[in-house]
Amino acid sequence: MAGQLRFDNRVVVITGAGSGLGKAYALEFAKRGAKVVVNDLGCSISGEISSKIPADATVAEIKQLGGIAFANYDSAEFGHKIIQSALEHFGRVDVVINNAGVLRDNSMVKISENDWDTIMKFHLKTTFSVTKAAWAHMKKQKYGRIINTSSGAGLYGNFGQANYSSAKIGIHGFTQTTAREGEKNNIKVNTIAPIGASRMTSGIFTKDILEMLSAEKIVPLVVCLAHESCNESGSLFETSGGWIAKLRWQRGKGIFFSKNFTAEDVEMQWNTINSFEHCDYPKNSIDTLQKVVALAEEANIPKPKL
Ligand SMILES: NC(=O)c1ccc[n+]([C@@H]2O[C@H](COP(=O)([O-])OP(=O)(O)OC[C@H]3O[C@@H](n4cnc5c(N)ncnc54)[C@H](O)[C@@H]3O)[C@@H](O)[C@H]2O)c1
Repeated sequence: MAGQLRFDNRVVVITGAGSGLGKAYALEFAKRGAKVVVNDLGCSISGEISSKIPADATVAEIKQLGGIAFANYDSAEFGHKIIQSALEHFGRVDVVINNAGVLRDNSMVKISENDWDTIMKFHLKTTFSVTKAAWAHMKKQKYGRIINTSSGAGLYGNFGQANYSSAKIGIHGFTQTTAREGEKNNIKVNTIAPIGASRMTSGIFTKDILEMLSAEKIVPLVVCLAHESCNESGSLFETSGGWIAKLRWQRGKGIFFSKNFTAEDVEMQWNTINSFEHCDYPKNSIDTLQKVVALAEEANIPKPKL
């Protein structure tokens, strides 16, 4: 049986670790020997008012358990400040968990530019900013683990969350690209799309459902992805209430029009275009280009120079 996944001498930076899922992660990493940077702006669910109380409370709990942590109160959009304080306190950074986030739900009629910009800033920009600041150190030490936080709203869409869902699916695009960029230097980047009990979900679900979806049930996947033994990168996992599953792209066989074609031809082939009967699971856009070149070759269209 494998031993406990330990994080002794590892420095773990967690944004939004003052409450909800982030706090659950922070406590667990500290129990497993990590030095934890507890970042939290202490803001309301919509991103207003900042307070040191949530980050301080998480750090106090960790210290009570005999763990090592310090609080950082910067907004995660200023990643360089968070990483700088991690380096000053602990001298390195091994794991980044981009978890901070807020909500500004509004339907398309009511959503304001400010609602849009705030969500982009609090989710997408924060994820970029902390990762960017940590990246050079991870590259130099040839080691890093980054976990980014998406959402079912991003994967599937959700009424009233055009801003949030755009940011959340954007985060997985960021994961996929940084995973490729990190390959040579043992920097692994993955995305989770959790559903867990927190103030974000307390108004949505019943008490019984919230109990079933405790934040602690999101923790094991995050710990696993953050460990040095994890070779996964660029992947996306849904997790909730003790269930964990990987997602991937699925592509139908489609149809290739070798000669001039019109909108009417497309309409006529609609069922074939939508069929997943002979599907594949593409992994990059070169796959797509190679596929088109192969189809053109099959149809005796002269091969273009690549
Ligand atoms: N709870 C769920 O079911 C669920 C579902 C899908 C996605 N998520 C995502 O998981 C993450 C954690 O959500 P949660 O449910 O624990 O929410 P939460 O509101 O309980 O915790 C979020 C924490 O982030 C902090 N924060 C917000 N903006 C910040 C910023 N710019 N800098 C630093 N700290 C900031 C807040 O002060 C708060 O303590 C979020 O990214 C959320 O979008 C949660």
